Amino acid sequence: MGDGDDGAAMELRGVTMTYQGAEGDYTAVREVDLAVAPGRFVSVVGPTGCGKSTVLNAVAGLREPSAGQVLIGGEPLQGLNRRAGYMFQQDALLPWKTVVQNVAFGLELSGVDKAERLERAREWVHRVGLAGFENAYPHQLSGGMRKRTAVAQTWIGDPDILLMDEPFGALDVQTRQVMENELLSLWTDSGKTVLFVTHDLEEAVSLSDEVVLLSAGPGSRIVGRYPVELPRPRDLLDIRTTPRFTELYGAIWADLRNEVMRTYERASHGTAGAGAVQDAG
Ligand SMILES: Nc1ncnc2c1ncn2[C@@H]1O[C@H](COP(=O)(O)OP(=O)(O)OP(=O)(O)O)[C@@H](O)[C@H]1O
Ligand SMILES: [Mg+2]
Repeated sequence: MGDGDDGAAMELRGVTMTYQGAEGDYTAVREVDLAVAPGRFVSVVGPTGCGKSTVLNAVAGLREPSAGQVLIGGEPLQGLNRRAGYMFQQDALLPWKTVVQNVAFGLELSGVDKAERLERAREWVHRVGLAGFENAYPHQLSGGMRKRTAVAQTWIGDPDILLMDEPFGALDVQTRQVMENELLSLWTDSGKTVLFVTHDLEEAVSLSDEVVLLSAGPGSRIVGRYPVELPRPRDLLDIRTTPRFTELYGAIWADLRNEVMRTYERASHGTAGAGAVQDAG
């Protein structure tokens, strides 16, 4: 095979993503190289608008690179990535379907017969803690319950790769920590490879084996890779207060902060408002 990392579950090789717009082209990410070994949990952080979702969309096969290549299990990706499950920031529940029907929907698309898909969906609804809500409609659910439904929707297809784009961003802090803990227990021993996008560095460090930092755009590149050697299994409710966590967080935040400042300076160039930058910590 090629000269890249052949053992990788997913690999971006010199990936450049350029958007064509009315006012000219905009290159969001430029020549990104990233190989993720099977079973690893990798988070991507970076300032707003730097190209995190763009990278995820490339791996999902939702948008083809302008240059470079995405490889899945060593094979060049063509079209949609069928080995990946994608969890968007905004869940994609169908309002006219019940919880069980929403969870079963992906299996319906792939032609699994009705009895089997409903049985598997019910199992997943139980696993994510929604027993009793099988026949509820999305508008009857809390934000956390909608996320649980979305998790079941993503996992039921048993994808090798999970692509998650700020999946818990809209939740309150407590619900979010509960969901993060549950995600980790699902993932542990699953062998699944995760690419997790977040702007929340605490979330990135506490969940991941490695944190990848994208620079401020345009033309974002990977400017840091930080192995997270915290022991597993992790209890996310306690891990954030350990000295090792604080140390790692501080080191990555120093670099992330630089990129956030650069983004902010570009955005506010020529305008007032210094000091309004939001601290992620
Ligand atoms: N379809 C598109 N057409 C034109 N430009 C786009 C398109 N999608 C994204 N962009 C631009 O590409 C850049 C990267 O966008 P992207 O959504 O990947 O950023 P992000 O890191 O996910 O941001 P956030 O943290 O706010 O979600 C942004 O400047 C954005 O405006
Ligand atoms: Mg995004």
